[in-house]
Amino acid sequence: MLKKPKKINILDRKSINYAELDKELKVELSILGGLDIFTNAHVLGVAANTQKICDALDLDYKTTKHCILAAYMHDVGKIRIPSEILQKPGKLTDEEYEIMKKHTVYGYEIVCKYDQFRYLAPVVRGHHENLDGSGYPDGLVDKEITEEAKLIKVADVWDALTQRRQYKEGFPMSKAAEIMLGDVKKGKMGSKYLYYLLIVIVEELAEKNKGNKKELKKAKEDLITLKDLDSIYKQIYDRGYSPRYARMLKKYELSPGYDMSTNTNLLSRTNAKIENLEKVIKENRQELSKLKRECREARRRIKLKERGTYLFGKRVF
Ligand SMILES: [Fe+2]
Ligand SMILES: [Fe+2]
Repeated sequence: MLKKPKKINILDRKSINYAELDKELKVELSILGGLDIFTNAHVLGVAANTQKICDALDLDYKTTKHCILAAYMHDVGKIRIPSEILQKPGKLTDEEYEIMKKHTVYGYEIVCKYDQFRYLAPVVRGHHENLDGSGYPDGLVDKEITEEAKLIKVADVWDALTQRRQYKEGFPMSKAAEIMLGDVKKGKMGSKYLYYLLIVIVEELAEKNKGNKKELKKAKEDLITLKDLDSIYKQIYDRGYSPRYARMLKKYELSPGYDMSTNTNLLSRTNAKIENLEKVIKENRQELSKLKRECREARRRIKLKERGTYLFGKRVF
């Protein structure tokens, strides 16, 4: 089991130093929480997912707290969205969706009002941006989006996909993972935070359902998705085979799907090739200097011959 020190209990808002929050902001957050049960549950869900990612990444207390605060505030702009849109039981029209998108800018404006939370403003504004620039409100690309916003986005989308909303049922986790993996493949979302979120979720599932064969099978299926993600993660971040994932595979007696010995073999094959080449280069170097020496000698002889050798004024060679 991953070591998950209970740094912050997100369900207990007091433990996240909710008291530290500005009174006015607290009111705005409570309004958001009280807007509807879905938004309230969503904010808590995003905070819980954020904590999972932070813990899996072994982030320190301060960073974790900032990320969880950002998670609490990420949708605060929704308090300015008309309730008939926010709580609409069906799909939003294009026009309504455009209004809904403004919650990022509204949230930014709200958070900016509080000096001590202004640093969270780019996260609140940027939590719907995509790495390829197709997100909103600013169409930022990878490097322009803060890491915290990327993290919150993963926590946010996971909650939005897996939880029930007024207009839809939640997707099963494997389906949600598949959808998000699709976004990773399209270059919209980075794989790092999704990878860490899933690794914790799958592990929790597997632990929880130890005795339940059906659920355990499902958790194992999710591990397969994780494997895809692991390979994308590797490609993008070039961190090599994830030790956490390797430990999980070992623990749940799963085949990693690709053989690590391939890499070991490749390494020893490449090393052998290098050794051979170095030998050939060394031999060639010796051969080269031998040829150079012969060349010099031949040139000297030619020169001597051209010049001729004279003894007492008489050419003898
Ligand atoms: Fe949002
Ligand atoms: Fe959200």
